[in-house]
Amino acid sequence: MVFHRHRKWAKLPRMTEPPRPPRRLAVLASGRGSNLVAIQDAIDRGDLHASVALVVSNNSSAGALEFARRRGIPWAHVSAKTDADPGVRLLERLEAVGCEVLVLAGYMKLLDPRVVAAYRGRAMNIHPGPLPRFGGPGMFGEHVHAAVLAAGVPTSGPTVHRVTEHYDEGDILAHTEVPVLPGDDVASLAARVLAAEHALYWRTIARVFDAAPD
Ligand code: GAR
Repeated sequence: MVFHRHRKWAKLPRMTEPPRPPRRLAVLASGRGSNLVAIQDAIDRGDLHASVALVVSNNSSAGALEFARRRGIPWAHVSAKTDADPGVRLLERLEAVGCEVLVLAGYMKLLDPRVVAAYRGRAMNIHPGPLPRFGGPGMFGEHVHAAVLAAGVPTSGPTVHRVTEHYDEGDILAHTEVPVLPGDDVASLAARVLAAEHALYWRTIARVFDAAPD
């Protein structure tokens, strides 16, 4: 039997879901903010269907806040030094912008447990080394690279994980392996890992929170 595709059917519009609005991210950063910039770049290129609805820092002179101001992104300085209850203030700001996903990008503070509870399963952090071996209290920034070099392991690399009430715990969502090369020092290893972070973080956000159904 031969089936002919009738023109009438061929011309019917495809039944598709209406386009989903961009995921509303809040990015928390304590310093330079290069991961924030990489995420915003991915959004600008159209690779990540999201918007940075808020940038938050505990550090009023953070590069991340400067970037937010330059780009016209809403921002907030939330700190135990200036806020009576920084956890509540942060929650209020997040709610005010309709934040859906919390993205910790070089945020050096432990997140208030009430914020963790409100965003359970919707908060992620990037760590500049393999977990769980090179994580935990005191393991941040250069300390991680120094520990990796001291351990003499052949590889390092960033790890993205869900956020819990404890430092660097929570399900691991992604990891990129980066070689530790002979002659590496903290600065050279940090630069190699940071480049891998910039490639990994937005892709992980897209995969975990932005997987649009077909
Ligand atoms: C990044 O290497 C990030 O993995 C690390 O701080 C750096 C921030 O760089 N985060 C931690 O150590 C958290 N425990 P950035 O401000 O340029 O994004």
